[in-house]
Amino acid sequence: MTSPILTRVLPGPPEPLDHEALVALLSPIDRSIPRVGANAVSSIDGSASVDGLSGGLGGPADLLVFDLLRRVCDVVVVGAGTVRSEGYGAMRLHDDDVAWRRSHDLPDHPVFAIVSGSLDLDPSSAVFAEAPVRPLVVTTESSPRDARSRLEGVADVVVCGADRVDPRLLVALLVERGLPQIHTEGGPSLLGDLVDADLLDELNVTVSPALVAGEGPRIVSGSGAGAVRGMTLDHLLASEDVLLARYSRRRPT
Ligand SMILES: NC(=O)c1ccc[n+]([C@@H]2O[C@H](COP(=O)([O-])OP(=O)(O)OC[C@H]3O[C@@H](n4cnc5c(N)ncnc54)[C@H](OP(=O)(O)O)[C@@H]3O)[C@@H](O)[C@H]2O)c1
Repeated sequence: MTSPILTRVLPGPPEPLDHEALVALLSPIDRSIPRVGANAVSSIDGSASVDGLSGGLGGPADLLVFDLLRRVCDVVVVGAGTVRSEGYGAMRLHDDDVAWRRSHDLPDHPVFAIVSGSLDLDPSSAVFAEAPVRPLVVTTESSPRDARSRLEGVADVVVCGADRVDPRLLVALLVERGLPQIHTEGGPSLLGDLVDADLLDELNVTVSPALVAGEGPRIVSGSGAGAVRGMTLDHLLASEDVLLARYSRRRPT
C-alpha cells in the first residue's frame, strides 16, 4: 500500500507533510507532563461505526495517524467493548515504529491497558498470548473473581473503582507506573467517562467523507452532565477528501 500524502491545512499556509514532520506534529511536546489523548473516526454526520465497526470509516490516512499515535505514546488504553467488537490482537507495533522508539529511548512497544468491568476477556486470545509486553487489565472491585484470577496469569490486573473504573484512578495508576503519555483508542463509553471526568486533554478526530445515517454511536457517549468544554484546534490535515484534526483542551488564560 502506498503511503497517503497528508497536507497541513492549518496552522500556516497549506503544505504537504513529509513523514518526519507528521511524526513531529503528533508527538508529545514534553513527555514528562502527563497527557491523555485519544483518536477516533467519525462520519460527516457523526456516526462512529458502520455495521457496528469503525473500520468502514477509516482509510489509509486515518490508519497512518492511528499507527503513529501508538508509536509516540507510553500506553494505549482501550475499552473492552472495542477490544471485543473490533477483534483486537496484541499491541505489537510495526518494525519502523519500533526502530523510531528505540532511537528515542522508549521501550519497543507501548503497554496495552484494557478497561473492563465484566472481565469478559479470553486469556488465551492473541491480545494476551502474543503480547510483546505484559498487558494491564483495569477493572473494578465487583468484577468476577474467577475471571480475575484467570487473567492474572497473563496480565497485571488492577482494581480502580468499586462498580465502574474511575477514570481519575486509572490516569493516576498509569502515571504512577511511569506511563504519563496516555493514549486511548476509545471506544465511546470509555471516552465518555474521560470527558465526564474532564480528563481528556486532546482529541485527534478523523472526519471520514461519508454519510451513514442510522443509530450508530457517536465517538463519545458518557452522561453529558458536565460542563461544555471548549477545545482549541492544534492542527488540521487533509488527505484527499478526509480531514484529520487535533483539538486540545482550552487552557485557562
Ligand atoms: N469510530 C471510532 O473511532 C471508534 C473507536 C472505538 C470503538 N468504536 C465503536 O464503538 C462501539 C463500541 O462502543 P463501546 O462504548 O461499547 O466501546 P468501549 O468504551 O470500548 O467499551 C465499553 C466497555 O468497555 C468497558 N468499560 C469502558 N469504560 C469502563 C469503565 N469506566 N469501567 C468499567 N468498564 C468500562 C466495559 O467492558 P465490560 O463490558 O467488559 O465490563 C464496557 O462494557 C463499536 O461499534 C466500535 O466499533 C468506534
